[in-house]
Amino acid sequence: MSHQTVIVLDFGGQYNQLIARRVRECGVYCEVKPCTTPLAELQKMEPIGFIFTGGPNSVYLETSPQVDPAIFTLGVPVLGICYGCQLLAHHLGGRVTAAQDDSAREYGKTETFYDASCPLFKGLPESGISWMSHGDYMEKVPEGFALAARSLACPNVAIADERRGFYGVQFHPEVNHTEHGVEMIRNFLYEVCHASGDWTMGDYKRTAVAAIRQKVGSGRVLLALSGGVDSSVCAALLAEAVGEQLTCVFVDHGLMRKNEGDEVQAAFQSWAMHFVRVDAEARFLEKLAGVTEPERKRKIIGEEFIRVFEEEARKIGAVDFLAQGTIYPDVIESGAGSAAVIKSHHNVGGLPDYVDFKEIIEPLRLLFKDEVRQLGRELGLPEYLVSRQPFPGPGLAIRVIGELTKEKLDTLRDADAVYREEIANADLDREIGQYFAVLTNTRSVGVMGDGRTYDYTLALRAVNTSDFMTADWARIPYDVLDRISTRIVNEVPGINRIVYDVTSKPPATIEWE
Ligand code: XMP
Repeated sequence: MSHQTVIVLDFGGQYNQLIARRVRECGVYCEVKPCTTPLAELQKMEPIGFIFTGGPNSVYLETSPQVDPAIFTLGVPVLGICYGCQLLAHHLGGRVTAAQDDSAREYGKTETFYDASCPLFKGLPESGISWMSHGDYMEKVPEGFALAARSLACPNVAIADERRGFYGVQFHPEVNHTEHGVEMIRNFLYEVCHASGDWTMGDYKRTAVAAIRQKVGSGRVLLALSGGVDSSVCAALLAEAVGEQLTCVFVDHGLMRKNEGDEVQAAFQSWAMHFVRVDAEARFLEKLAGVTEPERKRKIIGEEFIRVFEEEARKIGAVDFLAQGTIYPDVIESGAGSAAVIKSHHNVGGLPDYVDFKEIIEPLRLLFKDEVRQLGRELGLPEYLVSRQPFPGPGLAIRVIGELTKEKLDTLRDADAVYREEIANADLDREIGQYFAVLTNTRSVGVMGDGRTYDYTLALRAVNTSDFMTADWARIPYDVLDRISTRIVNEVPGINRIVYDVTSKPPATIEWE
């Protein structure tokens, strides 16, 4: 079954995939296409609407990305956002110029007043904050367009030609900072494009499976499975699409949480694919012996991971595709150039050198984290895998402070398991962004029964965060902390003191190493 499609035409803005994600969220199928795509190709997709994205350029410069003006004769509605809005105005007889003075340039949160009779703003409050980012402004609004929103600095923040279904907004409805922005996109889809809204993540799955089958053909695919959400969903999707043509190599580095390795294996055992679990605990521990410096731990683990994976890949022989569970936020983050490296965050230290493959395949590249989880559910993965909190690639190695030993790792595993169990019992597991235990390198004196103890201090960490770049420590109720503390000290030998970490990020980071 083919779906009603909205095409997001990409003019180089930074929020393009976010727009696509918003459209999907509204239950409408959507594809992002470069603005250079020939019109005939776009027409073949029979779109019910176009959304022109923002972009860093000025429409009046000859070198700027343009659109085939015939697009305005197709009878298909258009929503132009920022640069897209100016492009619309530019092509339909308006005039866009560089703002002469600062008052006409707008950046950031801007109080905006909407015409509620415009279909785009139907049912929404008449004013609210919108997120602006433009240095050009529309000096002359094109013929046939009405003004549909204004700000204190600018009389034409939104323009509308209801008869032809053309709308332009100078602000970014797709970002969270714009109040009711998603509803504006929804209005465009339903009030203007008359979408039926029957598209779901189940449809996404079917479309993705078909696309993978077409790309892979009868080829073979190899995937390094870490057991995290992204690589697990990637594995399930590929298994659904190409079954036995897929080999997943699960490198168990012995640095996972309690039972995690077995859980991953159990989750994938029944899928039609080749599943290889490599028990590499001893190897990793040997390489890490005596190492205390966090970045060295990360480097060793990243490199060893690749070596183990390569050895398995050699046994398998040449493959056609190397699959990766890259998701959209990874794509953006790895593009960010000059930010200082606080921690080297990559699960694996780049691509393996000795794997014989022709092409990389990244089937989750366009999805955001919550969409990946939704897709995982759609594929039938167990909830404990799909809703798993983020877990760093180096695993517990960076949660045992200082030198690693198997005993310390086991102690931490047991304590962390109790912590997680009690957080779940208190119904806080969905609420807290990330929580885990850290085995510090500090020993202190305690008294248990009649005897003196001299054991390790365990730190509990729990944070709330929207993007993991900044985070606030979670206010776990005292009685829950009390239960956790009592249970851990009673049940886990080697720990006689529990502390709770009450620092935010910054200045602290989420992990201790
Ligand atoms: P920090 O400690 O930098 O953590 O505040 C931010 C987020 O990143 C995770 N993290 C890692 N993830 N490899 C990973 O794959 C790493 O080396 C690593 N270090 C930190 C951390 O768990 C948190 O979610």
